[in-house]
Amino acid sequence: MTLAPSHKALVPFVSVDNMMKLVHHIGIEPMLRGLADYIEADFRRWELFDKTPRIASHSEEGVIELMPTSDGEVYGFKYVNGHPKNTREGLQTVTAFGLLANVGNGYPVLLSEMTVLTALRTAATSAMVAKYLAPKGAHTMAMIGNGAQSEFQTLAMKAICGLKSVRLYDIDPAATAKAARNLRGLGLEVVSCSTPEESMEGAQIITTCTADKQYATILTDNMVGAGVHINAIGGDCPGKTELAPGVLQRSTIFVEYPEQTRIEGEIQQLSPDHPVTEMWQVINGTAKGRSHADEITLFDSVGFAIEDFSALRYVRDHIAGTDLFLDLDLLADPDDPRDLFGMLQRASTP
Ligand SMILES: NC(=O)c1ccc[n+]([C@@H]2O[C@H](COP(=O)([O-])OP(=O)(O)OC[C@H]3O[C@@H](n4cnc5c(N)ncnc54)[C@H](O)[C@@H]3O)[C@@H](O)[C@H]2O)c1
Repeated sequence: MTLAPSHKALVPFVSVDNMMKLVHHIGIEPMLRGLADYIEADFRRWELFDKTPRIASHSEEGVIELMPTSDGEVYGFKYVNGHPKNTREGLQTVTAFGLLANVGNGYPVLLSEMTVLTALRTAATSAMVAKYLAPKGAHTMAMIGNGAQSEFQTLAMKAICGLKSVRLYDIDPAATAKAARNLRGLGLEVVSCSTPEESMEGAQIITTCTADKQYATILTDNMVGAGVHINAIGGDCPGKTELAPGVLQRSTIFVEYPEQTRIEGEIQQLSPDHPVTEMWQVINGTAKGRSHADEITLFDSVGFAIEDFSALRYVRDHIAGTDLFLDLDLLADPDDPRDLFGMLQRASTP
């Protein structure tokens, strides 16, 4: 006998298809701004969150990570991988899904795809941070690494920081051609470049977003001039960095959660006590952001669990009243909560 699951068994599930519909329903730029607002709001209440460096399982090919956090009322986690070789086999470098649950009874309240959502939240975080750190009137960005994240990074800088022009560079010209094509008609000047140096001409913001499971040097010391803001996205694992140590030494470094960034970020190349500023304190006004026009500011982004929590909160709030989710029969709900076995037995009765 098969009975329809009760409402207590059901958890709203946002598929990739529905996530894409949600983005188009809201509009990508308004959604990036909305996500940035949710992330900024959670950075403001940073101290009340449970925080731990993400739990990483490394292999020769890549990494699989779990990213948990809780604000005391809601618990969230994301499953995410990073496999730089994947694109050669027609697979994404990064895929993800995540969940929110009620701390009071432990019941999940949302299950969602997070591959698209991670690209959106990473971009929203970058632009939210650049709003505080980039030089005043920044209008041009070098976008180095033109893979899956790149258009999101670019559009968030437009939507949140008023970017006018992007200069694209990738070691693979096909990636640059793809990004240029995707960004056409979205209200930005798009310039394709054939060297990283060319991409940085006239840029006040430099975003590095490459994927390589090794120490890479995307920016050498002599490539970076005074006064720029560097948004370093791709160095996010032990042994996987993008910037020469000289660039780090000349920069004022801003991070999400130092305990995680010292393991995974660009600063793994520095001594463990190298000074860094936590972004939540800049946002709260308890630490200084950019202090002068010639300063090189560096956001050593690795991606932290609270950003995913904020993104899932945003999705939970914005699917309400829409049909952009499926009710998934995820939780067992026997009539008598202690009769799980009886529920199973009754399910075999013809
Ligand atoms: N900080 C975060 O929160 C966060 C979030 C998501 C992804 N990431 C990281 O961002 C990076 C990019 O992710 P993606 O999904 O766009 O990957 P992707 O594989 O789709 O794209 C990476 C691009 O980098 C290019 N590239 C590699 N080496 C280069 C070099 N030396 N110079 C210029 N270009 C180079 C590749 O050709 C490719 O086009 C990854 O390393 C990923 O782990 C970070």
